[in-house]
Amino acid sequence: MFTRLAGGVRARRDVVPVRPRHVALAAILASLLLLASRALAQPEPSALIDQQHCMFCHTNDAPFLAPSFQEIANRYRDDPRAQVMLEHKLRVGGRAHWGNMAMPSPAERGGPLSPEDAHTLVVWVLRH
Ligand code: HEC
Repeated sequence: MFTRLAGGVRARRDVVPVRPRHVALAAILASLLLLASRALAQPEPSALIDQQHCMFCHTNDAPFLAPSFQEIANRYRDDPRAQVMLEHKLRVGGRAHWGNMAMPSPAERGGPLSPEDAHTLVVWVLRH
């Protein structure tokens, strides 16, 4: 009985050290996949754009209810602080820069926006 128990414990010890490694490997693979899909999604983060309804007010190249993304990109092209300022504005809001109408907050646009997603969106806008 004791030997069998000891054997069982030993057998389990043989197996257990492998598992966390598998879990770690799976986690690494999963985050690599996520990074890869993010990188692929970057030229046009369409899911985010849909979820935040960006194209409800903006177009890529013609002023609509809001300045076009091309106008915005042109305005900030030589401003090294624009990326951070616009990420903040997308997440938290701020003073209007184009007229009297400020942009609605993320909650009003379709839900909270993470810093990573704000970064992705502003990189995309400024690339126009
Ligand atoms: C309900 C309309 C509306 C929606 C939806 C909207 N915007 Fe805007 N956006 C505006 C208006 C209006 C302005 C001009 C505000 C101003 O004068 O700063 C603006 C300005 C901006 C600016 C320039 C801000 C500045 O300070 O110069 C950026 C960048 C921007 N929008 C990106 C986005 C992105 C990305 C989305 C989607 C996540 C989005 N907008 C969704 C209306 C909207």
